[in-house]
Amino acid sequence: MNKIKVAVMVSGGGTNLQAIIDSCKSGTISHAEVALVISNKKSAYALQRASDNNIPSAVFTKKDLGSQEAFEKAIISELDKRHIDLIVLAGFLSILSEDFTRRYSHRIINIHPSLIPSFCGQGYYGLKVHEAALERGVKITGATVHYVNEIPDGGEIILQKAVKVNKGDTPEKLQLRVMKQAEWKILPEAIELVSRELLEQGGNK
Ligand code: GRF
Repeated sequence: MNKIKVAVMVSGGGTNLQAIIDSCKSGTISHAEVALVISNKKSAYALQRASDNNIPSAVFTKKDLGSQEAFEKAIISELDKRHIDLIVLAGFLSILSEDFTRRYSHRIINIHPSLIPSFCGQGYYGLKVHEAALERGVKITGATVHYVNEIPDGGEIILQKAVKVNKGDTPEKLQLRVMKQAEWKILPEAIELVSRELLEQGGNK
């Protein structure tokens, strides 16, 4: 069967990458395959997860490449080499330019650990999102998968899932619950959904 080739871009532990890999194995994702993992951090454990699953990976750092332009040029070259159809940002913490997001319009999706439009945009990433949710005292939070455009966390929403905030939650406890109950479920679901749509549009290379 024709499958959408996915590149997952990571910067950290890779638990969302792991959820995607596991979903490809279980059949939750049947219209896509992880063809590449890209990281901007040599130390990202996500790279170990890629290696353990025989998935090609590449590391690009702005420091080594010298500029945002060279950094993105190197990424684009790798994406083209692997005939990537869909880019998934899973905890990728480096900025991507408007040129880059326009080049892959409706072909980049991101997982954000809140119910957008709450606690999103500039400066809201990782634990900071959960710290803000606890600070505000919301009773419900969750995760969102959205298309990526030039506005941080501003693209069209694809899927969301709500998660209860419990009394006494710390940012770490809340983060883990949001990952387990929401992120690791809706990101694979969104990849399958978007991949089916892309295949219907004839969108694979
Ligand atoms: C997750 O909290 C995700 O919501 C956010 O970055 C973190 C990535 O974690 N985008 P991991 O690297 O997938 O474990």
